[in-house]
Amino acid sequence: MNTPLEARSVSLVREGNAVLDDVSFSVAQGEIFALLGGNGAGKSSTLLTFLGFLQPSSGEVLVNGQSVHADVAAARSAMAYLPEAATLYGHMSAYENLEYFLDLAGRKATSSELDAAFDRVALIDEARSRRLQSYSKGMRQKTAIALALLRGTPILLLDEPTSGLDPVAIDEFHDLVKVLASSGQTILMVTHDVYGACQVADRVGLLRQGKLVGSFTAKPGERIDTETVHAAFAEREAS
Ligand SMILES: Nc1ncnc2c1ncn2[C@@H]1O[C@H](COP(=O)(O)OP(=O)(O)O)[C@@H](O)[C@H]1O
Ligand SMILES: [Mg+2]
Repeated sequence: MNTPLEARSVSLVREGNAVLDDVSFSVAQGEIFALLGGNGAGKSSTLLTFLGFLQPSSGEVLVNGQSVHADVAAARSAMAYLPEAATLYGHMSAYENLEYFLDLAGRKATSSELDAAFDRVALIDEARSRRLQSYSKGMRQKTAIALALLRGTPILLLDEPTSGLDPVAIDEFHDLVKVLASSGQTILMVTHDVYGACQVADRVGLLRQGKLVGSFTAKPGERIDTETVHAAFAEREAS
């Protein structure tokens, strides 16, 4: 089977600045890979490259074994992307948001399909027909994930998905991500949160100033050691 996500020696220049430098990694089906790095490390740029919004100056990104550059539409149809600030409408309910965005994507869902998706992300029943302006950030995030699930894409790209969430919402979110991965979804998330990355990921890649400078893999049945990754992060950031 084809590898869902692969970056092959990707270098990227944005407005004359080197943003990614010879970055290579791949994410297997059902795997959670966290790209960890400080501000400006190139995390969001990496996701935008997979989405075909940015083109590598050398190297290539592949989705399901196919070069994104060769067929951007095919790549995008395989991935759901949660940007840092999820773009949902405050004046519409969760139901209405999903109906609207699914319609834009050329898809329809019955109300029982919508409810099934909200059940999966544990968005409380009572909130679903309420306007999003009264939602917490965690509830908005759940709505955005429900939308991604309904699009039926096998790959999820998450940009700083837990920033601004309280610790309980973060735990819930991580549990959800793990459930999705164990049901076969491939997940690439980027974050500056060492603890969160170690808590949720099967593998963590450390990105510093556009270079992948470390890689940490969970031992079977264990989580990645936060102290180890924190020390590597801090050391690299200081040097
Ligand atoms: N819209 C943009 N145009 C040009 N350069 C950008 C843009 N956004 C980010 N950059 C540059 O790309 C580098 C990496 O940014 P980004 O990928 O957003 O990092 P991160 O998500 O890790 O904080 C930064 O040095 C930043 O200055
Ligand atoms: Mg970013």
